[in-house]
Amino acid sequence: MEAIKELSVIEPTSKTEKEVEELVKDWGNDREKLIMAMLAVQDKYNWLPPDALDYISRRFNIPKGHIYHIATFYKVFSLVPRGKHILQLCMGTACHVRGAPLVADSLERDYGIPLGGTSEDGLFTLERVNCVGACTIGPVLVVDGKHRGNMTQHRAGAVVKRLKRLAEKEANNA
Ligand code: FES
Repeated sequence: MEAIKELSVIEPTSKTEKEVEELVKDWGNDREKLIMAMLAVQDKYNWLPPDALDYISRRFNIPKGHIYHIATFYKVFSLVPRGKHILQLCMGTACHVRGAPLVADSLERDYGIPLGGTSEDGLFTLERVNCVGACTIGPVLVVDGKHRGNMTQHRAGAVVKRLKRLAEKEANNA
């Protein structure tokens, strides 16, 4: 009887809960899989939605405080929504003097991607980073983990347009 009761407690109800269950269904309620479960959620949504963490907490019977502690400890996790594509603009001294602020201005003005924020369509998050160790090719824009040097307003615009086209194509094929 006890096992049936436990199952009903963790029964997914909302859309998010069902999606999360799909991600973690093979792991039973093995608490050691917590970080893997959180990584799977981060990977799917690009952040950790509160309702997904609530479900994980119930699903693995782990206090929410512990889960939030992990979420804030590791940089890989985000507790705020992030875009599908992560743009990181280096604002270190070398990149700054070579024109990084102009690139930031253009991304916000021309493409609605504010520095430190996410575009309304949810496609892009633009983060400020400090020296990424490639000063000689500054300004540097890191696009989904790949360093792009000698960045200009024009080149940043081309990156954004290419990723938008890709997203449209994916949406049309879905
Ligand atoms: S200051 Fe930008 S890479 Fe060093």
